[in-house]
Amino acid sequence: MKIELLLLCGLLFAFINVFEVRCEKFEPTWDSLDSRPLPSWYDKAKFGIFIHWGVFSVPSISSEWLWSDWKSENETQEISDYIEKNFPPNFTYQEFAKDFTAEFFNATQWANLFAKSGAKYVVLTSKHHEGFTLWPSKYSFSWNAKDIGPHRDIIDELGTAVRQANLTFGLYHSLYEWFHPIYLSDRANNFTTQDFAKAKALPELYELVEQYKPSILWSDGDWEANYTYWNSTEFLAWLYNESPVGDEVVVNDRWGADIPCNHGDFYTCTDRYDPGVLQAHKWENAMTIDKKSWGFRRNAVLDDYLTANELITTLARTVSCGGNLLVNVGPTKDGVINPIYEERLTQLGDWLSINGEAIYETSPWTAQNDSYNGNIWYTYANNNVYALVLEWPSDDTVTLQSSRQIFEASANTSVVLLGNEDTKLEWSLTTSQVQIKLPSKAIVKNPTAWVLKIISG
Ligand SMILES: *[C@@H]1O[C@H](CO)[C@@H](O)[C@H](O)[C@H]1NC(C)=O
Ligand SMILES: *[C@@H]1O[C@H](CO)[C@@H](O)[C@H](O)[C@H]1NC(C)=O
Ligand SMILES: *[C@@H]1O[C@H](CO)[C@@H](O)[C@H](O)[C@H]1NC(C)=O
Ligand SMILES: *[C@@H]1O[C@H](CO)[C@@H](O)[C@H](O)[C@H]1NC(C)=O
Ligand SMILES: *[C@@H]1O[C@H](CO)[C@@H](O)[C@H](O)[C@H]1NC(C)=O
Ligand SMILES: *[C@@H]1O[C@H](CO)[C@@H](O)[C@H](O)[C@H]1NC(C)=O
Ligand SMILES: *[C@@H]1O[C@H](CO)[C@@H](O)[C@H](O)[C@H]1NC(C)=O
Ligand SMILES: *[C@@H]1O[C@H](CO)[C@@H](O)[C@H](O)[C@H]1NC(C)=O
Ligand SMILES: *[C@@H]1O[C@H](CO)[C@@H](O)[C@H](O)[C@H]1NC(C)=O
Repeated sequence: MKIELLLLCGLLFAFINVFEVRCEKFEPTWDSLDSRPLPSWYDKAKFGIFIHWGVFSVPSISSEWLWSDWKSENETQEISDYIEKNFPPNFTYQEFAKDFTAEFFNATQWANLFAKSGAKYVVLTSKHHEGFTLWPSKYSFSWNAKDIGPHRDIIDELGTAVRQANLTFGLYHSLYEWFHPIYLSDRANNFTTQDFAKAKALPELYELVEQYKPSILWSDGDWEANYTYWNSTEFLAWLYNESPVGDEVVVNDRWGADIPCNHGDFYTCTDRYDPGVLQAHKWENAMTIDKKSWGFRRNAVLDDYLTANELITTLARTVSCGGNLLVNVGPTKDGVINPIYEERLTQLGDWLSINGEAIYETSPWTAQNDSYNGNIWYTYANNNVYALVLEWPSDDTVTLQSSRQIFEASANTSVVLLGNEDTKLEWSLTTSQVQIKLPSKAIVKNPTAWVLKIISG
């Protein structure tokens, strides 16, 4: 079958150049995989939502790492004390699963909120390091959301709703599992045996892709073993060449020790990666609204959550430097996205409804920011330069530096504030800068950050 297809490809290629891309065959080497062009939808989208949901959402204290922090060699005393005080003797982590009830989980409501936030894609933890799968995996008997807890196929429900809302659907998947006995045995063998990768991690990945057709595969938990242990290049060659999502899928870079920041469609490097300077390769800043955790925390306080201005600042800096922003929310065990998250996402959506043209489908500009003022970042689209102003200047006058040249080049250069496009703003050159007089703040629609659209004359 494969040989026939290849032959057919060769013949078609000889006659019709257009088929070239579809016939391209990737080899299971990083050189070959890295030569694949990034599917264009991903760079255009700029902003996605990350969801961390699983059994860790039941205790919902500390973080999604609770089980490891409680039971690994470096046990956290606070967590052991909390469990001892509040649960029966000999209570196990597995017993949390029955309380992962999800009774209020309405995938359509979630998807509508994500669409309202202005996000273009959604990435759900199909399985975190605890090993609990949000789908009825053949490879996770009795430790999945269909057999215990919600008794539902969470991935199927959310995937359907997200696509109905016209957003792109993606899945996070942890390669390793903290306490899986086969994984621990491979580790004890210094990963010279590949039993867990072959019996668990890889079959799950194939199952996920074939059943749920994710357009993003966000891998994690890779770091203890190398990519040959995980068979990453073989898997990715299959994903690109033969899987049902070969044309549109994008993957991150967490496919084995030393791979992050070196290989993959987009780089995530470290959590909350936010380099502040232009990157040569497509990248993503995966970060959290709750500064301390990816999973829901019942005991979080208001100060733990980023403000709307902090989120928009991060979005601006990320997009200016060529990145996408993946903003994480942690739903509760009953399936609720708390109003604090709802408010932040809505604030992002309100801002994007006015200023989206400075974010979506933009490219990095020649300069990313003004060096004298860390609150000005630039993007570029359709021959216009956008200056994202993250703090309202006290005298209603914005001073720009890197973009001065555009104003100097032509007296016909005009500048407007997004949301207020009818009014061309007055500007004047100084020796090294340009000063732009803003309208009174009182008439400006959005309260958190502002965008100047610079239209060359
Ligand atoms: C436990 O702590 C030691 C020493 O700080 C460290 O080397 C080791 O990686 C830690 N183990 C885990 C599972 O975090
Ligand atoms: C807890 O486990 C220990 C060790 O397995 C056992 O001796 C003890 O009886 C158990 N306690 C309860 C209340 O089940
Ligand atoms: C889920 O939410 C949608 C949108 O609010 C609503 O139309 C639908 O009835 C809800 N479904 C259930 C089962 O409550
Ligand atoms: C999704 O896109 C389709 C096709 O463009 C459109 O008909 C539909 O109304 C959109 N749905 C939503 C919820 O925006
Ligand atoms: C694994 O590597 C360590 C350090 O190199 C070594 O001490 C140990 O004997 C090795 N274990 C096995 C099972 O090969
Ligand atoms: C990965 O680790 C295995 C087991 O230690 C080793 O045999 C193999 O050479 C390593 N591969 C790479 C690319 O380093
Ligand atoms: C892993 O890769 C090896 C070749 O390196 C191949 O023999 C094996 O079938 C692959 N296993 C899986 C589960 O993909
Ligand atoms: C801003 O731009 C300058 C170069 O003009 C650069 O050195 C600096 O790192 C950038 N970032 C911030 C946050 O100011
Ligand atoms: C500015 O615009 C006017 C009217 O459109 C035009 O005549 C003039 O050449 C332009 N000047 C420059 C420097 O582009």
